[in-house]
Order: sequence, then structure tokens, then C-alpha cells
Amino acid sequence: MSLRRSRIIGCGSYLPERVVTNAELGASVDTTDDWVVQRTGIRERRIAAKDQRCADLAREAARAALASAGVDPATGLDFIVLATTTPDNTFPATAARVQAALGMTRGMAFDVQSVCSGFIFALSVADNFIRTGQCRTGVVIGAEVYSRILDWEDRGTCVLFGDGAGAVVLSAVEGENGSGTGAGAGILSTHLHSDGRHYDLLYVDGGVSTTGTAGHVRMNGREVFKHAVTNLSGVAEEALAAHGLTPADISWLVPHQANKRIIDGVARKLGVPAERVVVTVDRHANTSAASIPLALDEAVGDGRIKAGDLVLMEAIGGGFSWGAALVRW
Ligand code: COA
Repeated sequence: MSLRRSRIIGCGSYLPERVVTNAELGASVDTTDDWVVQRTGIRERRIAAKDQRCADLAREAARAALASAGVDPATGLDFIVLATTTPDNTFPATAARVQAALGMTRGMAFDVQSVCSGFIFALSVADNFIRTGQCRTGVVIGAEVYSRILDWEDRGTCVLFGDGAGAVVLSAVEGENGSGTGAGAGILSTHLHSDGRHYDLLYVDGGVSTTGTAGHVRMNGREVFKHAVTNLSGVAEEALAAHGLTPADISWLVPHQANKRIIDGVARKLGVPAERVVVTVDRHANTSAASIPLALDEAVGDGRIKAGDLVLMEAIGGGFSWGAALVRW
């Protein structure tokens, strides 16, 4: 068994300046602050400025993560993996734009598209590059400008999403520190799933080979809700069982921030008390692939997540695709 694993050595995030409240949205669609808060827990979200691209948000989050890790992107990075559904262009990868902006001229940079579970998928890809010995150090970013693919006349979806970016720096740890299940710090394992039969419950009605336009988010919210709670609690249990752990061992649950009721439903099903769940959905809304690294950065930054803690991340998105990552901090 490999003694090498990857460890998160730095976190960073970026939120656009503009705050949009539910009341502000109520001026253009038939909704109220009460309705949105009760059904979702969302109070406000950040919206990117017109001239801000996905790569701009991603670059800022990556810079913050690299600074906290003390890694120089020009010399110390082997890869950038960026999870997004709202890239700057159809090609090149938004990660390549970020690579250039960071002054990184070696290594590789590519995007991963797995919608709201994108960060977990990207983290898993990066973790595997490190475990196999192909790379030592890299950045994993989740960055989104969902405001560009929302139908601002559809109250069922436009109130749910926001813009933002989060990033982590991963580095290889070897030997004693990386060996023994649950013993050393690092990513213990990642668990990924997809089920393409549910395409039509959550999708964008555009794309290069369909309409030739970017399209808008379409969703059957009620159905998504049911799948979300079942699949997320399932993959969380799978991750714990792989290490002989139970929900009582979790120090922090860092879920994808789609809806407070989904977060509460999963925590209740697992038996994780609310005070051990990191919640940002009230202020960020659903930032898709960015939501987990944004929440992580907040909880690491304010001292809630500490060395030795067991952190469970889980997310679900269109496809459906869903996954979990278990990390010893
Ligand atoms: N303001 C006011 N009313 C709204 C509204 C809004 N923003 N959005 C929808 N409604 C209305 C609907 O039109 C419907 O009205 P009707 O009964 O007159 O037709 C009513 O509220 C109930 O709609 P429904 O969609 O059944 O509500 P819900 O209780 O399922 O809540 C969601 C809607 C979207 C909040 C909820 O289904 C949800 O959060 N689903 C998961 C979505 C998600 O997280 N997706 C991303 C996963 S990564």
C-alpha cells in the first residue's frame, strides 16, 4: 500500500464585492425574503461585476491559498485543477488562464466539469496525481459566475445561486505522516458517483453542440431535493465506513452549500449535531463548485477547523454527480 497521500496545506477564497439581498431580487421577480429564507436558508449572495470573469475570481482565491501555504506559483507548483461550470470561454481551460495570471509556466492546468460536486471531483483527481507520484504540489480551485447562466425571470432558480471562488493547495506527505488509516494528516479517501439518468432534473438548456448559446439553469427543485438528501448521506456513510469510522468521529461536516434544509437533512440522517456543521449558504447562496472551498476557508480561517480534526466534505450536482472526501486536518 502506498505511503504517500496528499495534504491540504493552504486555503483561500474570493467573493465579489456586490451583495444582493432577497429583498433586492423581490423587486424584479415575484418572491419575498421570507419565502427564500424559509425554503433555503439563503439571505444574500455575491454577484460578480460585469467585467469579472471566472478566471479573475479563481486567480484571487488561488493567490490567497498559495500565500497561506507559503508556495511560490512560479517555482513550487506542478498543477492547477479548476472545477467550474461557468468557464471564461469554451476553450482554453479557465485553469490555463489562471496559470498564466499566477506566473506559473511549468506543470499542467486543466478544468474539471462536474457542476456542484466539481470541487470534490477535482480534489479526487488531484489527490490521485499525488498518490501515484506524478505530482507533488498543486492547487485545486472551485470558481463560478452562476449569475451568467441564471434566468433572472425564473424565481424558482434565480434566488438560489451566487458567485465566488475557493481554493486549496495540496502537497504530498510521505512516510509515517502519510501512513496508517486515520493516523496521519491528509486526504484519507475520496468517493465519487454519477447517474446520468437524472439529466433532466437539473441542467442548463444551452451548450456548444445544442443551441450554440450558454443557456440557463433549469431545475425540478423538489426532485433534486429528494435525491440530494439520500445520495449525500449515502456517500458520507460510504466514506466513513471505508475507514471503520462513524459519524461520531466527524469533527466538522463541510457540505456543499445548496440549501440549508438539505444540509440539515443530511446532518440529521447522519446524526451529526448542527454545531459541527459549517454553514455559509445564508451569505453565499449556492456557489456550485466554489461552495465547499469557500466554507473550508472560512472555518479554517476563524479557527474552527484545527490540526487533527476529521473533516467530511460532501456534494451533489447536475448529472447527477455526487461525492465525498474525508480529510484528517
Ligand atoms: N418565491 C416564491 N415562490 C416561489 C419561489 C420563489 N423564489 N420559487 C418557487 N416558488 C413557488 C412555486 O412557483 C410554487 O408555487 P405554486 O404552488 O403556486 O406552483 C411553490 O413555490 C412551491 O414550489 P416548489 O418548487 O414545489 O417548492 P419547494 O418547497 O420544493 O422549494 C426549492 C423550492 C427550489 C427551494 C426546493 O425544491 C429546493 O431547494 N430544491 C433543491 C434545489 C437545489 O438545491 N438545487 C441545487 C442542487 S446542487
